[in-house]
Amino acid sequence: MISARTRLDRFISQHTSFSRRDVRLLLAQSRIEVDGVAVSDIQKIVHQFSQISVDGVSIQNNQPRYLMLNKPAGVVSATTDPQHKTVLDIIDAPFRNELHIAGRLDYNTTGLILLTNDGCWSRNLSLPENHIQKHYLVELENPVTAEYAELFAQGIYFEYEQITTAPAQLRVLSERMVELSITDGRYHQVKRMFGRFQNKVLVLHRYGVGNLQLGDLELGQYRELSAAEAGSIHRQD
Ligand code: URA
Repeated sequence: MISARTRLDRFISQHTSFSRRDVRLLLAQSRIEVDGVAVSDIQKIVHQFSQISVDGVSIQNNQPRYLMLNKPAGVVSATTDPQHKTVLDIIDAPFRNELHIAGRLDYNTTGLILLTNDGCWSRNLSLPENHIQKHYLVELENPVTAEYAELFAQGIYFEYEQITTAPAQLRVLSERMVELSITDGRYHQVKRMFGRFQNKVLVLHRYGVGNLQLGDLELGQYRELSAAEAGSIHRQD
């Protein structure tokens, strides 16, 4: 498997016994196919999910995988852990060991967690400049005041990272229940934002990321995303 984009001739010579010179000949004879189409361009760029074959023999046929999981509390957002159950332990699929987590949740946070084997996709999701919103339902120890929404919209300075959080939207549902949408994802970000008001987060649940919502997926359940759903995760301005 290749993680980044690379030239086809380099890829074939690294993954078979053909030399770069042999590859030129194979290309001239239309014996190499990428995604089902014979290729003659030596400079052709391929990636992790290009389907590549030589004389009909598959050299690479990775499938991109995108999953959403409704994480229960008491499960770690990690692929392995010596003590606790991990989100990967919940996945029962032959490709589970290929997966990594795209955006962690704390041990006791519940809700939508995304897993994939596509590093470009997860990178795209995590880049603050792509403005992909993560939507949380938050139960607090104390009532919220009007100041919260104002300060969150302005951004909060985090001393440790020396950054100001991106503008966040707060919707008040009741005295101590709110929805919060943020586009960045700093360590314990939601808890630290409410911590600015000395207001403790009692329950934290992520119900959406970008256009994706958990819907009726129950705690501990997961499902694969459709190509359209996976493709819906892109820059949002
Ligand atoms: N912010 C937090 O504080 N915890 C989470 O799990 C997610 C966002």
